[in-house]
Amino acid sequence: MRAATELLTTFASALKIIHDRLSERLRTPQIAIVCGSGLSTLGASMRERTIIAYADIEGLATSTVPGQISALAFGLIGEGEGVPVVAMLGRFHPYEGYQLSQVVYPIRLLALLGVKDIIITNAAGGLNPSNPVGTIVVVHDHIALPNLTGPLNALLGPVLTPPFDTRFVPLSNAYSFSLRKLVFKAAYNLGLPRDALAEGTYAWVSGPTYETPAEGRFLRSIGADVVGMSTIPEVVAACQAGLQVIVLSLVTNVVVIPETYASPREEFEAELAGRFVPPATQHEVTHAEVLEVGRHKAEVMKQLVEAVVVARDAERKQAT
Ligand code: HPA
Repeated sequence: MRAATELLTTFASALKIIHDRLSERLRTPQIAIVCGSGLSTLGASMRERTIIAYADIEGLATSTVPGQISALAFGLIGEGEGVPVVAMLGRFHPYEGYQLSQVVYPIRLLALLGVKDIIITNAAGGLNPSNPVGTIVVVHDHIALPNLTGPLNALLGPVLTPPFDTRFVPLSNAYSFSLRKLVFKAAYNLGLPRDALAEGTYAWVSGPTYETPAEGRFLRSIGADVVGMSTIPEVVAACQAGLQVIVLSLVTNVVVIPETYASPREEFEAELAGRFVPPATQHEVTHAEVLEVGRHKAEVMKQLVEAVVVARDAERKQAT
């Protein structure tokens, strides 16, 4: 219980630091956006922007991943009076050595700021051959191997105080149907080609190693379309806090799953028999490649997220 009380005090200090830095208009963001690798330019086009470094906010760690800034960006998206939003420029991963409670701390902070919806973006490896590099996958389900197999669920631990007090959080509707529909509508209105977007299931792995061919084959065979090292702890914490969730995964690389096995034994035996064997080449995924595709596609992702924010706000205003 002591840990839960300490956490409350930390949240209160963090909220005060943030409120003191923001204008009245920016204090209650409607929508939060989590920017993945190479996608932090999402924060650049906000109006009346206020950037607060994670280092200045009580309880927040600093992202150590190249390509990720460590700051919250508050601002307005859309024309006219605009929609107040907050973007996380950089996130935390267990592979950096952070506890899951640290990984989800900013998500809980966003919920306490009054955010209703959260758009989580990430860079992911493609497992489904129908989704080439550059495809934006609108996630409708996930497989969290670390949650299923080991003590690596973000909600493990003592029950916290409201709104983080649901012990058994259902995830069968984790990804809002109506918000996903809104993404496709926004993409259509932006004139994006139909195949720019796909629907799929995200597999969460702890990383930081990329998958072996056998692991990639396994993930594909159990129904995953993309694989990544982030997002799911955030989704779980957001669901517990009652937020509506959208996840957009940008396929930055194709997971290396060779169709055939290149056998050194067969190659040796063919050489013995005097047959020429062309050398087998195998691609290896690099973080530089992931960042490059992220940067390249950041503009499309930004336009899509902005269009969803504006459409969501219009929908909400219509409903009230
Ligand atoms: N695997 C896991 N995580 C990733 C990948 C990948 O291939 N690409 C980007 N994040």
